[in-house]
Amino acid sequence: MIEKIETLLGEIRSLTANDEKEIEALRIKYLSKKGLINDLMTDFRTVPAEAKREIGMKLNELKTAAQEKINALREELAAHHESGDELDLTRTPYPVRLGTRHPLSIVKQEIIDIFARLGFTLADGPEIEDDWHVFSSMNFAPDHPARDMQDTFFVEQHPDIVLRTHTSSVQSRVMESTQPPIRVICPGRVYRNEAISARAHCFFHQVEGLYVDRHVSFTDLKQVLLLFAQEMFGKDTKIRLRPSYFPFTEPSAEMDISCNICGGKGCSFCKGTGWVEILGCGMVDPAVLDANGIDSTQYQGYAFGMGVERITNLKYQVKDLRMFSENDTRFLEEFMAAN
Ligand code: DAH
Repeated sequence: MIEKIETLLGEIRSLTANDEKEIEALRIKYLSKKGLINDLMTDFRTVPAEAKREIGMKLNELKTAAQEKINALREELAAHHESGDELDLTRTPYPVRLGTRHPLSIVKQEIIDIFARLGFTLADGPEIEDDWHVFSSMNFAPDHPARDMQDTFFVEQHPDIVLRTHTSSVQSRVMESTQPPIRVICPGRVYRNEAISARAHCFFHQVEGLYVDRHVSFTDLKQVLLLFAQEMFGKDTKIRLRPSYFPFTEPSAEMDISCNICGGKGCSFCKGTGWVEILGCGMVDPAVLDANGIDSTQYQGYAFGMGVERITNLKYQVKDLRMFSENDTRFLEEFMAAN
């Protein structure tokens, strides 16, 4: 019996375990009621009286050793967890929250992508502009009442320098430095002196389009805008062109799309009409081509300009324009999926 106990002692001292389950299995094997040590306890009854003292002590030693070993294994396992051996070292050391793209950037990029597929490239111009590029080159006469259509921010003491009120100024910048064929879109921020409310802001974003070449007609314009509307708002989207006036286009039109919120049935967004206006457009006025160094007897062009906030509102139904510039992360996080 002493031998049996010695063997078990050796066995127990060299025990190892990888997890809680293995430790529990060992406990059951050695220390439970039906375990090996209890079996020895039963055998102990038959031990002759003279050997009882020595074997009893050995048995106690075995039982204590088994209990201590199980406890030690448990402690080892807990220490292993705490030391972080299971840490994923590829994780960042502290939780960094991923940002999202701004909804206006998402929509602007979508607009750019659609026109890029049609061969339009990007053009850019300054936000602080001179009167020539914003107004005069775009056919606004000095006393033209159309200048009143836009509440302009002037740079103090420089009546000739303004914050651009529309991206049409980039049309002029492109034409003065490039001969046709011209096929550009110009996204950018514009400024108007308006009281800030849910429906108006002193800055917003536009995307301008300009196409100048030989034999360009209103049909080309209409087809490109139809394609844009359907790519942006879905295949079933309809467009409607209403005659309008802009100093830089002749003829001019405003384009509505069938309201994509109610599907054209009429809702509060489209004020029950089933249509919502999304852009202004027209054939570039020959006077604008000439003022910017392009021979209007040889070339024609079309142009269009749209508000990015307006398109974004239609896509995502943002009720208050101010949300776009408040940088409330709860609002921005709503666009996580669109990124
Ligand atoms: N510049 C106009 C505005 O800010 C929008 C616009 C209308 C742009 C017609 C154009 C156009 O290029 O052809 O309201």
